[in-house]
Amino acid sequence: MTRIVYVNGDYLPETEAKVSIFDRGFLMADGVYEVTSVLGGKLIDFTGHCARLARSLKELDMAPAVSDEELLAIHRELIRRNDLVDGMIYLQVTRGAPGDRDFAFPDPATTPSTLVLFTQSKPGLADSPVAKVGQKVISIPDIRWGRRDIKTVQLLYPSMGKMMAKKAGVDDAWLVEDGFVTEGTSNNTYIVKGNRIITRPLSNDILHGITRAAVLRCAAEAQMEVEERPFTIDEAKKADEAFFTSASAFVMPVVEIDGATLGSGKPGPVATRLREIYLDEMRKAAI
Ligand code: PDD
Repeated sequence: MTRIVYVNGDYLPETEAKVSIFDRGFLMADGVYEVTSVLGGKLIDFTGHCARLARSLKELDMAPAVSDEELLAIHRELIRRNDLVDGMIYLQVTRGAPGDRDFAFPDPATTPSTLVLFTQSKPGLADSPVAKVGQKVISIPDIRWGRRDIKTVQLLYPSMGKMMAKKAGVDDAWLVEDGFVTEGTSNNTYIVKGNRIITRPLSNDILHGITRAAVLRCAAEAQMEVEERPFTIDEAKKADEAFFTSASAFVMPVVEIDGATLGSGKPGPVATRLREIYLDEMRKAAI
């Protein structure tokens, strides 16, 4: 089956979808994105992703491409047209294609933004076998720009980080700045000491994860203790457990950091429990 994608108002087979070579997303990484997971044909935390998209656009002085209601309708239509059961919907908004290359922003009145969405089918996404064994990570320096709270499409360094991890024979990399972990290449990071969950507080240094917000709500409801403060790799290596969160991995246990095995080397009880609670709550609230 050919995947049907959305480009600026049209639903098209992926082979027919086109964007201009002058698009600022292509030339300047001048665009933002969202990834919303789909479980059982329903959207997980759609409202959260919409709210963050609006914030990213506002921070970059970009006009919203369509209303939240239209965005929901587009997401649902893509699920329907692609018979998507489990997977993700990727959405990207760029500052459009002014017809030439220029550093200055084009006038939004004459250059409308580009809106692209497509589905990614991942059958059994929530039953990932990796979640049962946990992931191994290495630490690398965080050399990204200073506005990581805006979900831009500048993903070169995170991609390089994934490749460094691959080369080291592990699954992912945790980024370190001024001695403290900021976040993972594409996720928010946590350690567990005793019953306490420790995670870096929100700032411009990290993406304000939609999964992070939901997981911290779940933790509070389950009477788990949460401390929002930065932590070091040394502290993480000595922690009882570690995990990360993202819209596509949910709550993912981490069992090794820079070669040091955490706890028993198996996913810990806190991460395992949080994953269960999160998936349960989110499935119930899916739209
Ligand atoms: N990445 N931090 C970074 C740098 C991210 O790229 C992501 C998400 C997160 C977690 O945010 P959320 O819980 O809202 O997914 C944190 C997505 C999944 C991606 O790029 O595919």
